[in-house]
Amino acid sequence: MPQLKGPIIVFGGDGYIGWPLAMHLAMRTSDDVVIFDNMSTRLLVKSVNSDSLIPIAAMAERLKAFKEYTGRDNLVFEPGDVRDPQRVDEVIAKYKPSAVVHLAHQRSAPFSMIDQRHAVYTEVNNVVGNLNIIFSLARHAPNAHLLKMGSMGEYGTPNITITEGDIEIEYGGRKDKFMFPRMGQSFYHLSKIFDTYNLLLANEIYGLRVTDIMQGVVFGTRTHETTIAEELQTRLDFDSTWGTVINKYVVQAVLLKKLLIYGKGRQTRGFLSLYDSINAMTLLLENPPKEGEYRTVNQLDMIYDTLTLAQMVAEVAREYGIDVDYERVEDPRVEKEEHFYDVEHRILPSLGFHREKDMKDVIREIFEDVIKYRSRAESMKELIYPYARWKDSYIYDRQGFSLPREVERPLTVNEILKLAGFG
Ligand SMILES: NC(=O)c1ccc[n+]([C@@H]2O[C@H](COP(=O)([O-])OP(=O)(O)OC[C@H]3O[C@@H](n4cnc5c(N)ncnc54)[C@H](O)[C@@H]3O)[C@@H](O)[C@H]2O)c1
Repeated sequence: MPQLKGPIIVFGGDGYIGWPLAMHLAMRTSDDVVIFDNMSTRLLVKSVNSDSLIPIAAMAERLKAFKEYTGRDNLVFEPGDVRDPQRVDEVIAKYKPSAVVHLAHQRSAPFSMIDQRHAVYTEVNNVVGNLNIIFSLARHAPNAHLLKMGSMGEYGTPNITITEGDIEIEYGGRKDKFMFPRMGQSFYHLSKIFDTYNLLLANEIYGLRVTDIMQGVVFGTRTHETTIAEELQTRLDFDSTWGTVINKYVVQAVLLKKLLIYGKGRQTRGFLSLYDSINAMTLLLENPPKEGEYRTVNQLDMIYDTLTLAQMVAEVAREYGIDVDYERVEDPRVEKEEHFYDVEHRILPSLGFHREKDMKDVIREIFEDVIKYRSRAESMKELIYPYARWKDSYIYDRQGFSLPREVERPLTVNEILKLAGFG
């Protein structure tokens, strides 16, 4: 069985996916797993008056609890902001990692569509951070495997099957291979597209070894490590800006007894559970691309439209004595409401990837966690309704949802240490 060897840095290791991934990796290697984060998601979710429905411990408490409950001391924290080139350089030079996972993004499409300031913040944060990691790797760890998290949303919803990697195009009697075209539908998704092109160039000129993951929408609240102790739980966002569809539906079922369907509910996307996201990334780290290879991976498990998902959540809701109605709301996004959707995803299955848990069992786990912590969200119910509208995002500064001043420039190490609960 392939093994993880050498230090791994997880940029964005305080997040919904990053925290469970960092713990999972630390359980599978004796080398250091380094969490690099600036705590910005915690700040930004609060800036829209929301919070994680599941209470999450500060980083200092998380690390203490991880060590206490697992007996392992290889999970370490390096405060830092990926927009700060010196800090990224210092940390990469210090550990000379064998692999780097890059999840440190502003990851909400609706947040990037609030107004101009949110759009610009998102693109600068994501594109500059990715560039800083690329340059530092080229200087200090040119053979490291960079596992970079993109999004299935980079492709949009084309009327042909989305390939995994290149597509051959014939025109005017000649043929060539190109990366599958990207058609992102938010400024957030556009930032991921720029990342992809920057990575392609870095691969070509510096020979960086890259896995560029196009990930579907993730759902679920638990992994094997997050359930070891309360302090190890991961976040659950439920408001219309930060929540993702299945997680949001469960919260809507519990708090409102209705599910909000955007438009016709026929928008179709790829999905995978949090268990499977972590397993897939671990598998990709254990099976890196060859030296100098750029590999695109479509990371998803199943394809559904949003109405079918709502019906599935409604069925599980009945097991908990909750009968839900459907409420149709105007789609705040500018997107096709009915469309073809098909995606090739062969690489992960070829490496042995298989679904860890049945989808309905994962939805049951979300229900159990939401019911347990529902009182935390009672006062924030109105945030479930969408307020960021794609068509209004040309406004410069949307009153009531201002971007926090402190994130407009890279956060300093001391600021981050304070936010992370150290001293
Ligand atoms: N959650 C999903 O459904 C989903 C789906 C597809 C892709 N993704 C991608 O997966 C990755 C992780 O997503 P997530 O859901 O865990 O989001 P998250 O917001 O919970 O995690 C992102 C982490 O990165 C950190 N971060 C952001 N900007 C930073 C900066 N400048 N410097 C240092 N740290 C910074 C945040 O503080 C946070 O801890 C992102 O790239 C996201 O776009 C997520």
